[in-house]
Amino acid sequence: MNLKVPDTPVVVVDLDKLETNIREMAEFAREAGVSLRPHIKSHKTVEIARKQMAAGAVGVTVAKLGEAEVMVEAGITDILIAYQVVGEAKLRRLMDLMGRATITVAVDTLPGARMLAEAARGRGRHVPVVVEVNSGLDRCGVLPGEETLRLVRQLLELPELIFKGLMTHAGQAYGASSPRQVAEIGRHEGEVMVATAGLLRKSGIPVETVSVGSTPTVKFSGRIKGVTEIRPGNYVFYDAIQHGLGVAPLERCALSVLATVISRPAPGRAVIDAGSKTFALDKGAHGTAVVQGFGVVKGLPGWQLTRLSEEHGILEDAAKMEREPEVGEVLDIIPNHACPVVNLTDRVLVVRSGKAVDEWRVAARGRVR
Ligand SMILES: Cc1ncc(COP(=O)(O)O)c(C=O)c1O
Repeated sequence: MNLKVPDTPVVVVDLDKLETNIREMAEFAREAGVSLRPHIKSHKTVEIARKQMAAGAVGVTVAKLGEAEVMVEAGITDILIAYQVVGEAKLRRLMDLMGRATITVAVDTLPGARMLAEAARGRGRHVPVVVEVNSGLDRCGVLPGEETLRLVRQLLELPELIFKGLMTHAGQAYGASSPRQVAEIGRHEGEVMVATAGLLRKSGIPVETVSVGSTPTVKFSGRIKGVTEIRPGNYVFYDAIQHGLGVAPLERCALSVLATVISRPAPGRAVIDAGSKTFALDKGAHGTAVVQGFGVVKGLPGWQLTRLSEEHGILEDAAKMEREPEVGEVLDIIPNHACPVVNLTDRVLVVRSGKAVDEWRVAARGRVR
């Protein structure tokens, strides 16, 4: 990148690419006839959430209450907390937030649902809930089919909870070894949810929402008839993992890290001023096997970011290419996983056509409670 940067390491967002990614996913949702409720944990930034809303999102998804608080403060008032809200302190904050916005919460156990109902009773509130279903990730989520039906019937006994529907996240797609496998996981994600919603309806239970989504699977699960909502997050940026999975070309990756070569201590080795405190040690949360090293170095074929210590990144030239980085040179690197990179920086530099045009605060960074 020819961009003049004040200092490095710096996380850069390419505005043209970001806007293309946002627009393209909104168009997909419109064409598939589903609502788009993007997960903002990927960017944690108010400016980006506002762009997603302007492009047609019905609201946003968050993992943590702290993220929801930041979004409500920014004027976004339809929020799904796709996460179990457990514990007194959090339930108190949730009830406070419910006075200011429409907040839907995920539940997947009866004890969790009872705690939520009790907190709501104490405050005279009614909480919209979706039941999280396990479509194969084996993280949270009740099993699809009869087990989901059993839990939903129990929830219906709790008058403070308003059952809205079902949600799932097929994050196991990140462990897929081919685009075909990603597609299969995506179709399964949609089909199993639609089948479970059908079972509930057959039992006389109305199901408004059937919510699915991860960036790799959404183009498949989102097309299954009966799915009503998609929740991709990472698509705003894409990254080396998405590229490795065949989800997006490198040219669509909107976020990168600019880092300076600080040393050339040996032939075939260069060291940059960004390590795990900039890139995170992420090689994919769910067993991704599609990346080598910790990022893709643009314009330096053959060189790989093979090792990270906290403040050093070690690049090695496995292919013994001719092009040699020089001390002082600024390199542009697409990280493996954009989401934790954003969470490690206070601000991102916003560029358009190679020129810095803005700086955005990562307002919800570190909001892990
Ligand atoms: C519950 C839930 N929904 C949606 C998403 C968005 O997935 P992705 O980042 O693959 O777009 C995530 C990601 O972690 C998630 O946990």
